[in-house]
Amino acid sequence: MVRYDVVIIGAGVAGLYASIGFPKHLKVLIINKSHPWECNTYYAQGGVTTAYNDADIPLHVSDTLEAGAGLCDETAVQFMSEQSQKVVSDLMSRGFVFDADELGNLLYTREAAHSCNRILHAGGDATGRYLHFFLLQQNPHPMLSHATVTDLLMENNRCCGVEVFSEGKRKLIHANNVIIASGGVGSLYEYHTNSHDISADIHGICIEKGIALENMEMMQFHPTVFVGNHKARKQLLSEALRGEGAYVVDENNCRFLFQYDERGEMAPRDIVSRAIFDYKQRTGSQVYIACSHFDKEYFQGRFPNIYKALRDLGYTMPQDRVPISPAFHYAIGGIKSDLEGAVVGIKNLYVAGEAACTGVHGANRLASNSLLEGLVFGARAAQTIQATQTIPCASKFELSTVALELESDKEKKDILRGLMWDKVSIVRTQQGLKEALEVIEHMLNENIGRLLHLRLLSAKEIVSSALKRTDSIGVHYITKSEN
Ligand code: SIN
Repeated sequence: MVRYDVVIIGAGVAGLYASIGFPKHLKVLIINKSHPWECNTYYAQGGVTTAYNDADIPLHVSDTLEAGAGLCDETAVQFMSEQSQKVVSDLMSRGFVFDADELGNLLYTREAAHSCNRILHAGGDATGRYLHFFLLQQNPHPMLSHATVTDLLMENNRCCGVEVFSEGKRKLIHANNVIIASGGVGSLYEYHTNSHDISADIHGICIEKGIALENMEMMQFHPTVFVGNHKARKQLLSEALRGEGAYVVDENNCRFLFQYDERGEMAPRDIVSRAIFDYKQRTGSQVYIACSHFDKEYFQGRFPNIYKALRDLGYTMPQDRVPISPAFHYAIGGIKSDLEGAVVGIKNLYVAGEAACTGVHGANRLASNSLLEGLVFGARAAQTIQATQTIPCASKFELSTVALELESDKEKKDILRGLMWDKVSIVRTQQGLKEALEVIEHMLNENIGRLLHLRLLSAKEIVSSALKRTDSIGVHYITKSEN
């Protein structure tokens, strides 16, 4: 029997940066669901936040805490900010190139709720794609692609490996350590900006195994998404557009966001998303992102991918205004993790990136803190594993025979997506949440495949957590009435 030192579930920033933290002689395997680039990192546009210098650490911490609406773990935020310059220097010393001016000075940008320019970017608006490609090149360990993790192998409170579905059959993969870096829950929602592979299966497995999840009611919606394309993943229009001066306007070109918050376009994204949602409902007006005051050459150079994506959708930038809507973007809550990158209460199991809840995002994630979190805690998990002696598991595990998917699941997945969008998104009511819970519980009792079952468990956890939090905070906004 082959036993790996480390199995990493997911090939986004957290999984890959953890992987390159292990020397080549260790037996490490990365598992990803389809193509390595199908992950949320690949689609990240804005950038990587870093404390600009040591003096900026307290300011970065306070911006993160303020955006997090009082729910962040301050120690975790402090740790992440203190590590930020280190991970950025490490990337650059390995050869990663952030955007710089002609003299080689790094170009720092700003996004909503940051009090200064401290976000590094690459390829203009393709930070995630460039970083992902770079980390893939740096990774010295093998990767098993087109493999879905269908279970965690558990012996008491110890993780012993995973069961996967790969090449048409189930297989057991034994490991002394497992790192979950599988991302969030995007496919639970009708409108989202996530890779289509991100479907909350691993969260569902954790729920099944009694592994703690935290803050699952905290689901973040990005304010400026073009939802008119026909793909499940909607076109993100980066926060950096507003950071660099784009306006959000109604049909009459009125910058109505100032009616909601004096910071206008630069208010935290929970406030901007809710304002757009409310304004559309109240006035019936379409809402647009407007960039016509940008210099054309500057726009094309700074946002080359947004420029091309919108051109393919029929918009000429920067002169055309583009209709926008908020859409699901990021799971703030996740698998409860400590500062060592370990899953709380379970031996040999680690978690990093969007899958984790480290407490750094509180009730509303500060823009571009997510790639940073993936880097900091991916590295941390790799360090902790190498500093911890593991006792190999003794149990024998059997392959499961439960069907993964049934033909009727597709329709139910669509119902779930619509339900989560209607009842468990930007504005919630107790009544709507209760209705959602009822439908989810009903579907859980039907004859369904394992993957849908796991998705439903995650959805149920989101709804149940939302029902428990009766007051609004950050992205969790709950009103008494349906209107
Ligand atoms: C964006 O580019 O707007 C995304 C940044 C983020 O999600 O932090």
